[in-house]
Amino acid sequence: MCGIFGFVGKHDALSTVLSGLSRLEYRGYDSAGTAFFDENDAINVIRTTGRVQRLTETAPKTNAGGAAIAHTRWATHGSVCERNAHPLSAGRVVLVHNGIIENFRELREELHYTPISETDTEIAAALIDSLYDGDPMEAIAKAQKRLHGSYAFAILFRDKPGVIYATRCESPLALMRTEQGSFLSSDPSAFPACGEYLVPQEHTIVEITADAIHARGEVKTAVLNKLDRSEGRQGYAHYMLKEIYEQPQALRRTVERYLVDGHVDFSQENIPDTLFDGIRHMHVVACGTAMHAGLVSSHLFRSLAGVEVTAHIASEFCDAGVLVDDDSLYVFISQSGETADTLAALRRVKAGGGRVLSVINRRGTIIERESGNVLHTSCGPEIAVASTKAFTAQVGVMYLLAIRMACARGRLDAQGESEAIASLLAGVDSVAPAIALHPQIAAMASRISKAKDVFFIGRAADYAIACEGALKLKEISYLHAESIAAGELKHGTISLIEPGVPSVAYLTRKQTCSRVLLSVQEILSRGGTVYLFATEDMEVPEGLDELVVCRLPAKEGAGAAFSAAVSLQLLAYETAKQLGMPIDMPRNLAKSVTVA
Ligand code: M6R
Repeated sequence: MCGIFGFVGKHDALSTVLSGLSRLEYRGYDSAGTAFFDENDAINVIRTTGRVQRLTETAPKTNAGGAAIAHTRWATHGSVCERNAHPLSAGRVVLVHNGIIENFRELREELHYTPISETDTEIAAALIDSLYDGDPMEAIAKAQKRLHGSYAFAILFRDKPGVIYATRCESPLALMRTEQGSFLSSDPSAFPACGEYLVPQEHTIVEITADAIHARGEVKTAVLNKLDRSEGRQGYAHYMLKEIYEQPQALRRTVERYLVDGHVDFSQENIPDTLFDGIRHMHVVACGTAMHAGLVSSHLFRSLAGVEVTAHIASEFCDAGVLVDDDSLYVFISQSGETADTLAALRRVKAGGGRVLSVINRRGTIIERESGNVLHTSCGPEIAVASTKAFTAQVGVMYLLAIRMACARGRLDAQGESEAIASLLAGVDSVAPAIALHPQIAAMASRISKAKDVFFIGRAADYAIACEGALKLKEISYLHAESIAAGELKHGTISLIEPGVPSVAYLTRKQTCSRVLLSVQEILSRGGTVYLFATEDMEVPEGLDELVVCRLPAKEGAGAAFSAAVSLQLLAYETAKQLGMPIDMPRNLAKSVTVA
């Protein structure tokens, strides 16, 4: 998390970094700050709590150029206040940081340094300053030997006007030279133009001036082909709503990209069927919503491809000591392509020689680069913190992967493949009619928004949907929500059901119908209210007190996950809206979670 941006050029350094920073705001929006050289070559620092917009309003309107750095923060160490906002200074050094300095306490003691802020970052400025004797690169190189943790730094030295120094370890950093000057950014998509950019390798130190970028260490080149930018909210009240409504096209685009002449075909991504040879187990590894996409699709790999699947929370994967072996495929799912926990798990599997495949939305990201084998979701930029269109697209790609694996393993013949594709496409077709449920779901939300706790239940793939329903509701409405496998309710959680407590149930499999309905009855018997989302072919009791049924526009089966997903997204959105929450940027969250 945290975004850093820098620019050195002949004009408008300050306004350039402020507009670059606004494109990085998805990385954190607790506070923001900038440092720039003024016309007297003195460094000015401006910091504000809150959004980049506030910083922009506070900053002077004119600036002659030179060098400027900027930062948008997601607090890890120290509360959200101006004092803890970046840039942070010590002596001759002013810097912005993305990452975590793990040994900041030890360094404070070693240097006998009394910090002004509560951050882990300030000591890095103090350390570099203590090692500085006129050669910035040398001071940074020495400091790197003593810093433990992750970092991307953009650094100004008070006696080096017109120059930015930068370095990185684990945290992302990209550089670009243009006619206007030189840029640095946590994310290349925040650059103002397409074209070639540079990626400093770990511990490389760069000196950036208006005309040149000098590197001490290795730098790789990459190309930004397309500015992956959102074109605004386009009349929608929130990005989340826009992204929910974009799903019919985003999912279709994602799926059709990999359908060639009626077959699932990954040859454009150079993914050979030999990747699936001898696979006995699949491990799907991801965080949050991406992990739920893995959980939803697990069932498909079992039923279609005959492969056992375990879905792992990426942050648990390393600590749990999951074994890396030859006959497993490890699949990593990430919208942002830079989630630190997912990246750490990927690196662990690669170090153990495991077979890897990733499903990524954003191009040019670190997980994409390090994975080798990548399937893409084609959703376009997802701006709202709450992931919506990425989720349905991830499930779509996993569905395709299950079909391809099943074919490669001889579990599906041509007829079977056509039927599986037809059922996937029926699911894709159900997304637009699911969006039409919006008014009905808004009415449910007006009751749910008065609750304190909401329980989500389902079985098998519907339990995975319930997990996503609970996550979405809590992250944007701040209501307490909990997902429970329906059969597990009676083992404890049912004690929390009392008159008026709402539960949301999903039912898209006939196989589980009677047992889910039993759980629904148990809740109703205790005075709870149940909002039941069931496919149109499911036999469910109608007209019961406190049972509200919403028919999903789909037939039972795997494809029903798409319309169920849309329904839970709309439920969360409407609840948060009715509670007046800041839907696109909920408190304490950031779009990319780049700290482990
Ligand atoms: O970018 P990623 O897909 O790796 O992100 C994973 C999670 O951080 C993300 O899905 C998060 O849970 C969303 N905010 C949920 O809406």
